Amino acid sequence: MTQNLADASGPASVTAAEPIAASAGASRGWWRDAVIYQVYPRSFADSNGDGMGDLPGIRSRLPYLRDLGVDAVWLSPFYASPQADAGYDVSDYRAVDPMFGTLLDADGLIRDAHALGLRIIVDLVPNHSSDQHEWFQRALREGPGSPLRDRYHFRPGKGENGELPPNNWESIFGGPAWTRSVNPDGTPGEWYLHLFAPEQPDFNWENRAVADEFRSILRFWLDMGVDGFRIDVAHGMVKQAGLPDIGGEGDQLKLLGNDVMPFFDQDGVHQIYRDWRKILDEYPGQRIGVAEAWTPTVQRTANYVRPDELHQAFNFQYLGTSWAADELREVIDVSLDSMRPVGAPTTWVLSNHDVTRHATRFANEPGLGTQIRTAGDRELGLRRARAASLLMLALPGSAYVYQGEELGLPDVTDLPDEVRQDPSFLRASGQDGFRDGCRVPIPWSGTEAPYGFGPAAGGPSWLPQPAEWADLSVEVQTGDPTSTLELYRSALAVRREHPALGAGTDVTWLDAPEGVLAFRRDSAQGSFVCTSNTTGAPVRMAAPGRILLSSADTEAADGEILLAADSTVWWAV
Ligand code: NOJ
Repeated sequence: MTQNLADASGPASVTAAEPIAASAGASRGWWRDAVIYQVYPRSFADSNGDGMGDLPGIRSRLPYLRDLGVDAVWLSPFYASPQADAGYDVSDYRAVDPMFGTLLDADGLIRDAHALGLRIIVDLVPNHSSDQHEWFQRALREGPGSPLRDRYHFRPGKGENGELPPNNWESIFGGPAWTRSVNPDGTPGEWYLHLFAPEQPDFNWENRAVADEFRSILRFWLDMGVDGFRIDVAHGMVKQAGLPDIGGEGDQLKLLGNDVMPFFDQDGVHQIYRDWRKILDEYPGQRIGVAEAWTPTVQRTANYVRPDELHQAFNFQYLGTSWAADELREVIDVSLDSMRPVGAPTTWVLSNHDVTRHATRFANEPGLGTQIRTAGDRELGLRRARAASLLMLALPGSAYVYQGEELGLPDVTDLPDEVRQDPSFLRASGQDGFRDGCRVPIPWSGTEAPYGFGPAAGGPSWLPQPAEWADLSVEVQTGDPTSTLELYRSALAVRREHPALGAGTDVTWLDAPEGVLAFRRDSAQGSFVCTSNTTGAPVRMAAPGRILLSSADTEAADGEILLAADSTVWWAV
């Protein structure tokens, strides 16, 4: 049931939060250079000691985000959900799950964020609902032939008695992408499609009620005052007509995969975004849409951010690139080249709640993919992560920071199997699905778990935090000039101030020794150079200017510098 603002305790009548006052950059679009911080609500801050993060917890920590220097906060789903996929299975799109709080908490969070100058982006999950969503439950109850079944993909099975799935698609979380339903009389019934877990039935976007409902959901949250939406599985809503089999056998689907599939990146999906763009544009304050679209190429990703579609799309090709100068240079060029024709900002991201944190990816040999279970060389990983983060924040466009990366957190690779909750881990019998490792609650203060994540007297956090995290807390790192947290704070402050940083469409590559990436960015008020040494040895080179910031100790003398192994330096020119 939809929760009303008036149902929750507190004032009965609430008006929408005011949009943020236009800032200097607003005329050209605040999102073009925004640093957007991803909060994973389960794991950010727990206000009531139940071991689970919540909206009041996030609200209490907003000043930390303002001081960090980010522009906007993206919240992963906090809607009513049975949590089969940590909230990406929504049973009511207009209600807050009680484990996270109430709609009034969401309202207060949006208001407080705006008062601090932070924008709020919420997650929208339009490809699938929860199997507990009222529509799906009614469709099951009404049985085959009910028009409500057309809002999802129900099909009779193949085989003599319908005992085989309608096609050979496999779920991204493992096993068939179809589950057989049970008829109201208890007999085996039709099958329904779920690209993810069986608890996440896919909507049929050919059905007008689905499109109408999502227009209304968009307006609901826009009226609440949110500044934008991160659109989950933005490439998945339209399926190829006839739901044809996929050729070949075996390992067809990969969440992070690159193949063209009859259910991903179909051209028809763009009509949905043209429609949504009109709604976003009706609201004051530049509300945006961000596509989570895993497409085969950055060029295909650019289609989602054409001028009449969404504003940003995640650059997963960048996220998947190893710490190697030549590969980085290529992906940076391709990314900028692909976005330039459509006039959208390029985005950069290194970590999120679906991939192994970059401090751990870079601690391991390259080529292991984005979900790995080995800790690797932690010191090396952190050194490279700091360097990679400074490089990312120097690139033209908008950058995404995943909670905890500013603390240099590694993935928790040794979580006991019995505490893991990733549905993919459970469905793939532990062969895959290590996403819990990047979802462990973050350490704020103190020497014992939950390290200020929740009250000391509260229950254990939903995933256990490692003992070493006492040394990585916000409290420990604050004021320590060598800490990763202070590196991020300084980087974001410089990024705000330096006229050549932030939005843009170009970099000028500079000659540099092998394994070193060097580029310049120019503005009328001054130029900026970024140098990244991706090799494991120090490299001597001519100093391009005055050091602004460095991810590691850098020796400079007589116009030369010794660029430390795996480091990035920012220069004022
Ligand atoms: C992408 C989300 O980021 C991920 O966490 C989720 O499991 C899938 N979409 C399905 O909604």
